[in-house]
Amino acid sequence: MDFKMRLTPKEIEILEGKHGETLKKALKSVVLYGETFGAEELVDITGPVHLVTSFGIPILEPVFDMMEELISEGLLTKEKFTVDPRPIDYENVKANLLEKIVFKIMYGKQKEYESQLKKVGLKDDNSFTCTCYLPEVGNIPKRGDILSWAESSAVVYANSVIGARTNRNSGIIELLSGIVGKTPKFGFLTDGGRRAKWLIELKTSFLPNPQVLGSAIGMKVMEDVPYIAGLDRFLGNNLSDDVKDYLKDMGAASASNGAVGLYHVENLTPEAVDFKRELLLKDYNTYIIDDSEIERIIKSYPLMWKSKDAKPSLCFIGCPHLSLNQLKNWTEKISKELEKRGNKKLKVNTILCAAPDVIEEFKKDSKNYEKLISSGVKLTYICPLMYMNNPLCSKKAVITNSNKLRTYSTARFYTDDEILNYIF
Ligand code: F3S
Repeated sequence: MDFKMRLTPKEIEILEGKHGETLKKALKSVVLYGETFGAEELVDITGPVHLVTSFGIPILEPVFDMMEELISEGLLTKEKFTVDPRPIDYENVKANLLEKIVFKIMYGKQKEYESQLKKVGLKDDNSFTCTCYLPEVGNIPKRGDILSWAESSAVVYANSVIGARTNRNSGIIELLSGIVGKTPKFGFLTDGGRRAKWLIELKTSFLPNPQVLGSAIGMKVMEDVPYIAGLDRFLGNNLSDDVKDYLKDMGAASASNGAVGLYHVENLTPEAVDFKRELLLKDYNTYIIDDSEIERIIKSYPLMWKSKDAKPSLCFIGCPHLSLNQLKNWTEKISKELEKRGNKKLKVNTILCAAPDVIEEFKKDSKNYEKLISSGVKLTYICPLMYMNNPLCSKKAVITNSNKLRTYSTARFYTDDEILNYIF
């Protein structure tokens, strides 16, 4: 078979089947995928992959078969990888009998799939999170690293906040890239693909909620790269823990309400600091965001609940997963509010989601952990979207501070302050 891409002698050997049929198929898939996007060559990946497919849905039969083939050939990723969150945690996210039956059908292959993941290079049992780049989890790219990731919230963080280079790949292609150690060079892997088509001028009189700002940007620029000016007025010039949390949530909203895979924040994110407005392409578009635009965006969110004035029964916080800093902040906010109101426990079943490693670290601070748990809050490692994505749970009146969860489910979006008002 002829390939349009420039290939090295070693790659040609693999594609000729000299290193086995399975490796040949893996590389061929990566090459054909790259050619679809006009890539002219493959480049070595320099950091571990992060997989988006974390759930054992029985209809993904071809994935399980492919995994079996990789395993039987002894093929695994060059470096240990991380993967998106697990779907189920009955201890902390309760389900009734009917829901358990639904989950059993939906995620019936979870155990088998996790065992396959381990055999092809999964780091460990704790590696299930969308925030793999947090220090407690440890899949932390460096600036300039070439990656092959697919989880949209992680891709946008790695590209924008860290300055690593990954396309927003399709699921399974990241795994195959991890096995062959290569990814096609196109899009965000090139200097040109990282330049901005949009100048976002933030002119608000206050720091917007990150999930709303990200949503506004995403809906406007879709998959283009935005260069955001005016945000440093509020965030400053240092990537502190609070600032990184803000950018994590803003990015995830821009990636889900649109399809942003990279943004630059003037005077703050690494490439914007180095190259400033040179990052803007000629003939860029401008989008001005002021107070009224933020208000318009919030009002534009449709309410998907069957009964519009239902009382919330469940609240999910932490999509993408919360950082340790955010867990501590929520603990502080919730206990202060409880004290103020003289309530002993929350009225709404409130669930905070974070990486297993982050939860473990948080538990070490037993005083804070007790404070949070005694208020009635549950702490889980699941992805709330995987909980919501079925006909039973989607009927519930769920509230969230996540614009990603709002976009892909029937959950209702509220800002953090509004959430605090509702859960008491
Ligand atoms: Fe993470 Fe699931 Fe939200 S993967 S970003 S918690 S939808």
